[in-house]
Amino acid sequence: MLRQALLALSASNRARDLIMANPLTRDVVQRFVAGEAADDALAVTRRLLDDGLLVSIDFLGEDTIEPEHATAVTEEYVRLLGELSAAGLSGGGRAEVSVKPTAVGLGLAEHGEKTATENIARIATAARNAGTTVTVDMEDHTRVDATLRVVTELRADFPDLGCVIQSYLRRSADDCASLAMAGSRVRLCKGAYQAPEGVGLAVKAEVDQSYARCLRVLMDGPGYPMLATHDPRLIAIAASKAQLNGRSADSFEYQLLYGIRPAEQSRLAAGGAQVRVYLPYGDDWYGYLVRRLAERPANLVFFLRALASRR
Ligand code: FDA
Repeated sequence: MLRQALLALSASNRARDLIMANPLTRDVVQRFVAGEAADDALAVTRRLLDDGLLVSIDFLGEDTIEPEHATAVTEEYVRLLGELSAAGLSGGGRAEVSVKPTAVGLGLAEHGEKTATENIARIATAARNAGTTVTVDMEDHTRVDATLRVVTELRADFPDLGCVIQSYLRRSADDCASLAMAGSRVRLCKGAYQAPEGVGLAVKAEVDQSYARCLRVLMDGPGYPMLATHDPRLIAIAASKAQLNGRSADSFEYQLLYGIRPAEQSRLAAGGAQVRVYLPYGDDWYGYLVRRLAERPANLVFFLRALASRR
């Protein structure tokens, strides 16, 4: 119930304006977001890389409705990748970027899919020049087919373009099977959205079981699985599956969100695993923050306490 209410709140413009205008929310935001500027993302990236972690940077924003805005988001990514390269942070894919298709035009009223494809191609070209990769985030269930079409088309030129599968969707094990080919970078997550009964799984235990099923499909295949979860049970399943299959540490990676279970991030990396931290930055942090609050009541308590405190 609480999760549903919060996810509904994430789409509310009124709540968004109220919360974004409150300076006290900044404390909470900083726990999950690098900052508002690209320089903030670069500084946090440098620190995470120094700690032996990998990074995927997300310029916050989604549901772009103006073509000019989609172009501006694309240019921000291109600039960021140039700066990462100049700072020596992107070589060998150490810091890459994650891109939401609707941030670069997928949801535009006209030619959305074409615009998103062209914009992601520009970002992927900049990433290639910087010696790194792009992963295309997955958004709500209405965007899945179009996003997979965009990724499939672009993989002809950019075979290392990553995509995301969400285990809360009933279709996901099949999608994993068709994506588990050599060189295919697939991030597996549970999914931060909701879907109607026939499309998505509503019960948490079913979403977790589906994750384990998808994980097996990806880990058994020849691709490059990116296991995005904070769930200790699923992380343990991934570790034992890797061992069982004789997978080398560089043939898959764990991914966790910035600010969530940082001790676990360090523990996994210290054990020799590749661990990538998903690092968002930008001033459009509202939707991202509310989805994180919906996932964990403890985060909500932390947030409300910060709102109530007088510093
Ligand atoms: P879940 O939320 O069920 O948590 C499982 C367990 O993890 C908890 O029981 C607890 O033990 C531990 N845990 C979780 N949060 C914690 C916290 N704050 N502190 C301590 N322990 C905590 N979604 C999407 O729809 N599209 C996408 O493209 C992406 N991309 C993406 C990238 C990366 C790198 C990650 C990690 C996640 C995403 N997501 C995403 C979000 C994802 O779908 C999901 O919403 C969150 O990761 C939360 O799911 P968990 O797997 O962590 O499980």
